[in-house]
Amino acid sequence: KTIYILNGPNLNLLGKRQPEIYGHDTLDDVERNCRAVLADGFDLKLMQSNWEGQIVDWIHEAREQACGIVINPAALTHTSVAVLDALNTFEGPVIEIHISNVHKRESFRHHSYVSMRADGVIAGLGIEGYEAAVRRVCTLAA
Ligand code: DQA
Repeated sequence: KTIYILNGPNLNLLGKRQPEIYGHDTLDDVERNCRAVLADGFDLKLMQSNWEGQIVDWIHEAREQACGIVINPAALTHTSVAVLDALNTFEGPVIEIHISNVHKRESFRHHSYVSMRADGVIAGLGIEGYEAAVRRVCTLAA
């Protein structure tokens, strides 16, 4: 069983980008930490794109290939009906994760389209949020 971990725009720069908000760890660190918490029988695929359509295509692919989705939609969280619609075509568990506490930040970050579909939402735990999300998908998809 494969868990898709999808990351939206600018998260390729994680570790370099605004480290005072997002920390110094990179997406490679995220992948390594998530692999360490996978339950038996689960694998993961971590992906990142700056393109909304690519995220939509990966969610469509997940319909056939993935038992659950962990998604940090980044800025698309607050703008993308297309990502929400795509997630609504996926039948397995979906956990939304934000590294920062979006509720403590600008008001435009307080609304999430993706939360209308997510089974759980994590914000403000830093990159540890990804590990919590993976554990939850393992529980829900067991
Ligand atoms: C983010 C929060 C979003 O508001 C922002 O656009 C991001 C990252 C987070 O992980 O804290 O790019 O999703």
